[in-house]
Amino acid sequence: MLLEARELSVSYGRTQAVQNLSLKIEAGEIVTVLGANGAGKTSLLKALQGVVRPAAGDVVFKGASILGRSAARRVADGLVLVPEGRQIFVSLTVHDNLLMGAYTRSERPDREIEAIYERFPNLAQRRDMPASVLSGGEQQMLAIGRALLSRPALMMLDEPSLGLSPLLVKALFTLISELNRDGLSILLVEQNTHMALATAHRAYVLELGRLVLEGDASSLASDPRMAEAYLGA
Ligand SMILES: Nc1ncnc2c1ncn2[C@@H]1O[C@H](COP(=O)(O)OP(=O)(O)OP(=O)(O)O)[C@@H](O)[C@H]1O
Ligand SMILES: [Mg+2]
Repeated sequence: MLLEARELSVSYGRTQAVQNLSLKIEAGEIVTVLGANGAGKTSLLKALQGVVRPAAGDVVFKGASILGRSAARRVADGLVLVPEGRQIFVSLTVHDNLLMGAYTRSERPDREIEAIYERFPNLAQRRDMPASVLSGGEQQMLAIGRALLSRPALMMLDEPSLGLSPLLVKALFTLISELNRDGLSILLVEQNTHMALATAHRAYVLELGRLVLEGDASSLASDPRMAEAYLGA
């Protein structure tokens, strides 16, 4: 098992954002976490990332509890989040944004950056421009490229398709499949249920912080309870 959340709870004061949630990701999997606005998806990712301390439960990564590890240490260990809204540095160049992804490493990441440019030619053309000139889709590619430079074992993506045109959404999910085929394990939080279930192997559905459905992505795609989970929220 690559990552396990065990009976995890996240609270903000009296708001229980995640309640007693257990989920697993095996090496090689794409697992998607679905749910309406406020279901607790980002809170779950923040707890896994280490920026929010869970109120209860455990997070086990590569066989060991990581609750005591800082967020930076978790990145160095291979647990990397591409946050909601991308959060790239718009005043830095594209190239410097990519370099930020390799800040935990001592050797120069030149070869890996070239590989990122080969994968994303639009980024290569704009490598010396400020990231503010990038389109929404290009910014998402930059955020993913930066995360790849951290050499993740598990990449977590928080609503990467948000705000992208249908064409770019399709390209994004194709990229996610390709990265997975190259060996990357992926935890994908999405509101684009249709595309997420078409791309992932397994899925978990949250409603108001609680797990209400889990299973193979293909069987959940045709499960009538999927619609209920969204209407109920
Ligand atoms: N920093 C915070 N302080 C207080 N309450 C918060 C905080 N962050 C989130 N919440 C609350 O926790 C609950 C879960 O929020 P969360 O952002 O995890 O949901 P989400 O599934 O990611 O939603 P969205 O799809 O809108 O991104 C919501 O009720 C939200 O209002
Ligand atoms: Mg969110």
